Amino acid sequence: MAVVMCYHFLSGKLLTHHPKTKMTKNQLTTYLWISTGLLLCHALAAEPLEEPLAPLPLTNTENPGKVALGKRLFHDNRLSNQHTRSCATCHPLDSGAMDGKQRAESADGVAVLRNTPSLFNVGFNYFYNWDGVVTTLEAHTEKVMLNPRIMNATWPELLAALSADASYKKDFAPIYPDGLNKFNLVDALTCFERSLATPNARFDRFLRGEKNALNTGEQQGYQLFKSLGCVACHQGMNIGGNLFQKFGIFGEPKGNPKVADDGRYTVTKNERDLGVYRVPSLRNVAVTAPYFHDGRATSLEEAVDTMAEDQLGKPLSSQERSLLVKFLNSLTGEYLGKPVTRKAVEPR
Ligand code: HEC
Ligand code: HEC
Repeated sequence: MAVVMCYHFLSGKLLTHHPKTKMTKNQLTTYLWISTGLLLCHALAAEPLEEPLAPLPLTNTENPGKVALGKRLFHDNRLSNQHTRSCATCHPLDSGAMDGKQRAESADGVAVLRNTPSLFNVGFNYFYNWDGVVTTLEAHTEKVMLNPRIMNATWPELLAALSADASYKKDFAPIYPDGLNKFNLVDALTCFERSLATPNARFDRFLRGEKNALNTGEQQGYQLFKSLGCVACHQGMNIGGNLFQKFGIFGEPKGNPKVADDGRYTVTKNERDLGVYRVPSLRNVAVTAPYFHDGRATSLEEAVDTMAEDQLGKPLSSQERSLLVKFLNSLTGEYLGKPVTRKAVEPR
């Protein structure tokens, strides 16, 4: 970024020089400095493309100590009431940060949950859960901890259980002077969640100016993504995650939902929000099947068809579908420098 800005700054400056006017020694030195800078900048950075989507930042600004502590908590079964599940049970980081199930398994085995969203890049969303019930990760963490269907914990029991473990006391002490308490636990978990960024997808490299990072088919898929209008809803740095839209504008999406779900209406009680959901981020979407809030689409092809038909009223030719899917496959990024992957999960 700095390099790019310096390029623009320099090229702006250069334009103010008229090559035929005689330069003073000072001006000449400046000119030479600028030209060298310009050449260097050219060599270092391909010029970024002017596009409606933006690449993810390459660096992470979260406090490493908090991230390490949050990671430990995230993987600790003691965070759930029966000590049977951790956050990672449903959001496994070696498998797209989601469980690959149509719907997550409720703690009581009876209640029905929605499809588990990937936690990768969760820090770039503006609302959380499919109905956008909360707008901060802190509020989400408090909710998920106490949710009887998910962690089913109580703070006094949880804090007592963790405080009994001397190694937790030791881990909290250098980072939080007031030690292990609810506020600090939530803080560490959310810092960890914010660290779950997956930059450097091939599409991001393309956006940063590396034209060959996408092959022709993928580039054509991206053009379609824009020209058909997908980008109107899946937008911004996270390619989604910042809007609410009705699921099924032009028609009833295929697949049997089996379970009634009023979507955002459950949060607002506004009739207009019946069947409205948060537009999900499409980052890493190739490794996070099944799709939609109820996991009704098992393949990316199926999900893309539903979108074109029911969100845009534009059924796709098989070639268009295949190009869009190619483009979506280029959105898989890297977590801690390694490509995000999907472990084989038994479909349910
Ligand atoms: C039983 C599986 C399960 C467990 C365990 C679980 N989650 Fe989730 N998580 C889900 C489901 C399902 C949703 C979507 C809920 C909805 O939309 O109604 C979700 C949503 C989220 C979201 C919102 C993501 C977004 O972009 O909307 C965050 C953040 C999150 N979980 C974090 C956690 C943390 C932290 C823990 C551990 C304290 C945890 N989860 C434990 C299944 C689970
Ligand atoms: C009018 C807004 C809108 C448009 C246009 C739109 N989408 Fe969506 N998209 C959504 C919403 C809302 C969802 C979530 C629906 C649900 O699960 O209830 C979604 C979900 C998806 C999913 C599933 C993601 C997941 O993790 O479950 C994919 C894939 C997708 N869209 C791709 C596309 C493509 C490709 C296009 C263009 C052909 C497109 N979308 C156009 C609003 C839109």
